[in-house]
Amino acid sequence: MTTDIDQELQGAKLRVEELRAQISYHDYRYHVLDQPEISDGEYDELMRELRALEERHAQLIVPDSPTQRVGGEPVAAFGIVEHPAPLLSLANAFNEEELLAWHKRAASLAGTDQFAMVCEPKIDGLAVALEYREGQFAVGSTRGDGSRGENITQNLRTIRSIPQRVSNAGIPQRFEVRGEVFMTKAGFERMNEQRADRGEPLFANPRNSAAGAVRQLDPRITAERPLDCFIYALGWAEGGSVPPSHHETLDWLSKLGFQTNADAERYKSVRKVWQHCQRWAEKRDTLDYEIDGIVVKIDDLALHERLGVVGREPRWAIAFKFPPTQRTTKLLDIRVNVGRTGSINPFAVLEPVNIGGVVVKMATLHNEDDIKRKGVRIGDTVIVQRAGDVIPQVVGPVVSKRTGKEKQFRPKRVCPSCKTKLVRQEGEAMRYCPNRTTCPAQTLGLLTHFVSRGAMDIDGVGEQLADALLQAQLVADPAGLYTLTKDQLLTLDRMAEKSAQNVLDAIDASRQRPLDRLLFGLGIRHVGSETAALLAQHFGDMESLASASVDELAAVPSIGPIVAESVHGYFQRKESRGLILKLRRGGVRMDADATAERAGPLSGQTFVISGTLAAFSRPEAEALIRSLGGATGSSVTKATDFLVTGERPGSKLAKAQRYGTALLTDEEFMALLREHGAV
Ligand code: IVH
Repeated sequence: MTTDIDQELQGAKLRVEELRAQISYHDYRYHVLDQPEISDGEYDELMRELRALEERHAQLIVPDSPTQRVGGEPVAAFGIVEHPAPLLSLANAFNEEELLAWHKRAASLAGTDQFAMVCEPKIDGLAVALEYREGQFAVGSTRGDGSRGENITQNLRTIRSIPQRVSNAGIPQRFEVRGEVFMTKAGFERMNEQRADRGEPLFANPRNSAAGAVRQLDPRITAERPLDCFIYALGWAEGGSVPPSHHETLDWLSKLGFQTNADAERYKSVRKVWQHCQRWAEKRDTLDYEIDGIVVKIDDLALHERLGVVGREPRWAIAFKFPPTQRTTKLLDIRVNVGRTGSINPFAVLEPVNIGGVVVKMATLHNEDDIKRKGVRIGDTVIVQRAGDVIPQVVGPVVSKRTGKEKQFRPKRVCPSCKTKLVRQEGEAMRYCPNRTTCPAQTLGLLTHFVSRGAMDIDGVGEQLADALLQAQLVADPAGLYTLTKDQLLTLDRMAEKSAQNVLDAIDASRQRPLDRLLFGLGIRHVGSETAALLAQHFGDMESLASASVDELAAVPSIGPIVAESVHGYFQRKESRGLILKLRRGGVRMDADATAERAGPLSGQTFVISGTLAAFSRPEAEALIRSLGGATGSSVTKATDFLVTGERPGSKLAKAQRYGTALLTDEEFMALLREHGAV
């Protein structure tokens, strides 16, 4: 005969097993494949349910329960590193009550509530352990399953904020620091912009791209990615003394040359800690990197020893998790809009969902390949992510929630705006509407882009006025702005004398914008603001650029063949030449800004880079030189002042030696940049 208690236990056992299977599956997707299928919030929910059941039925706890260990299998392609002290995880608190409960428990075990705590941002990146021997960076590894990680030393060496050596007498002979590798939002966006320029697939978010970059088998690829690292703890140390508290450890690490987080704060009461967590939940978006919570750590390290660890979670720390930025919702439809270059941009129409206080109804899907790669279907339950002011994105489908009624997205064959048959060029991810002259959506997109801040910056002319001008047929293309009269403007609805004059003044001021702004404003495919600046700097005026051959364009440093073809193709077209002529007649300036070259400590000096640099890609290094006022060249000439030599410098080195050009090693170059505050 079975009792009620037996039955309850039986039910709990089944559910516990089910939860463990699900968690280990999602651990694998997240830690090994970097392809999560559910949101962090849903994962936390599974863990909470499992933990609650295990708490109620202690006999169900087994050593390999996910609550007892850290998830994830290292991939086999890297060497394995055994962690001498395990890399732990953190328990979560989602509200004030849970934070207070954690504090109360710690206080009761410690026998006092008079202990200080340090609050730091919880960086949403990838945990790493860095071992230093005799002050030299020796081995770097991922967390892996907490006891064994992957050896990613070569990749970590490419990260600028990780010191290769720390020089300070009296430090332990061997020690390990722990921290988080991440990508800044700006770096991530820049990288995606460049990838889009080159027609390469885009990364979904900074965390995924940082994770992908550190686990690249080729460290040169890692080096091109804008990675960064904060160090937040000392793992272990041998042969030397270490500070007695966490905040002193952070100071100590920072003095040694590690990048620690400047937003760490120490408090003596849990009330202050809670206020800190609330403040940061509000201002998390002001940081240039993504954080998903605040880590609260007891300051006194002797207390860490006393409080100990349960399973994989220390009792001396907790992570306050912000409300999730990822949620799941229904994908109702996939529609497209037409971009300014005629690109057909799919977007998701969603069942409205509140993500971190903002109701999201639409999200970007980038392009057809992106839809294919993510495998989303109309009707799917999808994970949607929102971060800061970036457009919400569809991360992927929750395959387990499929009913079989979902439908594949069928790419459009004709332009939704002008019904012209769409084209898709070989090797391109996007379909395009080829009707560049009379497609209403493209004309509006181009005009709106032309007047925007990064382009010609015509204050007072936004999308609405651009639309009104097109509708009223006062303007048919960007050049039309330069022949507008006040009388014409006054015929528009709600346009008063004063605002008409303001618009005319703003248009007039835009005539003086330098060439790069105009080029960017023309909306040439693959020409973002950075590419526009490179072209303007290299060619100096519109005529030289317009008459350049594909080879001449491709010879410009950082300009690849796809961009060269696109620019050349643009200037070959009759309608483009007509537009440029009209702009010229409208009094728009067509040369680069000679005085715009920044003066700086390297002004008047020309640098050429050869070989592979440890910390930067070539375009990055060149941009840094230019930011200090220096000039850059692609080949060594008599005018070259310095040749920076990376690994495998090639024939440029021989040439530099012939000319007697000064040589800078990778490290000397780094020291120079550091000296002038560029890194
Ligand atoms: S302390 C027990 N401090 O969060 C100590 N971790 O769930 C655990 N993380 O993968 C680490 N920022 O990599 C700590 N300021 C910070 C952190 C941080 C991010 C990550 C850590 C680990 C996860 C813990």
